[in-house]
Amino acid sequence: MKIYRAAVIGCSRMGAFIDHEVTDYKAIIPPYSHAGGFQTEERTDLVACADLRSDVMREFGKLYGIAKEHQYTDYREMLEKEQPEIVSVATQPEHRAKIVIDAANHGVKAIYAEKAMAASMEEAQAMVDAVEKNSVMFNLGTNRRWHPGFDSMKSIIDSGDLGKLKTLIIYSNGPLFNSASHNFDLVLRLNNDVAATWVSAHLPNGDNIISGEVVNEDPVGQGIIQFENEVTVHAMLSPRASEWEAICEKGSLTCWNNGWQWQLRRQADVPGWRRCLVPDTFPEFEGSSSTQNLIEDLVQALDTNATTRGGIRVAYASTELIFAFMESHLQNGKRINLPLVGSKLRLQRGRAPRQPKFTA
Ligand SMILES: NC(=O)c1ccc[n+]([C@@H]2O[C@H](COP(=O)([O-])OP(=O)(O)OC[C@H]3O[C@@H](n4cnc5c(N)ncnc54)[C@H](O)[C@@H]3O)[C@@H](O)[C@H]2O)c1
Repeated sequence: MKIYRAAVIGCSRMGAFIDHEVTDYKAIIPPYSHAGGFQTEERTDLVACADLRSDVMREFGKLYGIAKEHQYTDYREMLEKEQPEIVSVATQPEHRAKIVIDAANHGVKAIYAEKAMAASMEEAQAMVDAVEKNSVMFNLGTNRRWHPGFDSMKSIIDSGDLGKLKTLIIYSNGPLFNSASHNFDLVLRLNNDVAATWVSAHLPNGDNIISGEVVNEDPVGQGIIQFENEVTVHAMLSPRASEWEAICEKGSLTCWNNGWQWQLRRQADVPGWRRCLVPDTFPEFEGSSSTQNLIEDLVQALDTNATTRGGIRVAYASTELIFAFMESHLQNGKRINLPLVGSKLRLQRGRAPRQPKFTA
């Protein structure tokens, strides 16, 4: 059985240490970080790492057994010397595109890039071009696409048991790059990655955050997404965090508390009531690490030369929704047709990297 050589670029929280932040959080089944995923997955061998911060890599080396000579402050040197087959890019979105493009052009076979995909649409397009030109397998770290609970939710929708899917609700959309990147990917997945035709959005603090073409902070945003198959998404900014709902003609499916609770409600005739929704049983599913599932999906794609569950085009589609939300806000909530054309906006926060939690 082939073992793939893996390397992580961006060795901070999501790259390496985030598992230490969620030890008492049942919504996350470890491993959660990229390095943790590669270490646990038997088909990958974590061989090297790269980060601008040597102190962070020193701790990475201790935790994951990567000797100093395999730690690099220049990722291009790492690509050259280590020849990894799978590369993770767990930097912030402002530092993603160039690394992904360099890795793809260098000849890596698969890339696991964190969300949000890129800091501008121009960068996102350049990533699509490089990944496709080099036939690289690609998955964006939108974990719910690999979460077995959402797989169950999608199977029920796809079975038609509840009738046609009509409406998807994101109860708490949050900042567009950090959280909506997850939410937009989830609604795309639940709706079979059908193309969106338009969005209309409002960013409550958008006027203070967007200055010309520069987006200075990650803006929260609410709005509507219309899909080609007439499914509509309502992305709200309500206090009900980590809750999503799929409403079909004859019932609905709800996930709340970030995957802790799931509910199926079905239309039924109850004497004395009209169009009644009655709770039914949401199927049992076995929890597993979505990070590891994502990595296994890459491995499987490499083994068989098949496509991944995500892919660069799906990543581009969720990125387009982020930028279309901002463009709509700038035009007072006007409907923005997709594909999005001519967006020049760029996320540029100028922030320092986070301090990872080195121990649990
Ligand atoms: N999928 C999830 O559930 C999830 C959870 C947390 C974070 N994230 C995402 O992961 C990404 C990283 O988040 P974080 O909180 O770990 O970020 P962070 O700011 O803590 O770390 C980013 C790291 O990238 C490094 N870096 C920057 N430029 C580099 C370069 N050219 N070469 C090598 N290293 C470079 C920095 O030195 C830093 O250590 C973000 O996009 C974030 O949205 C995803």
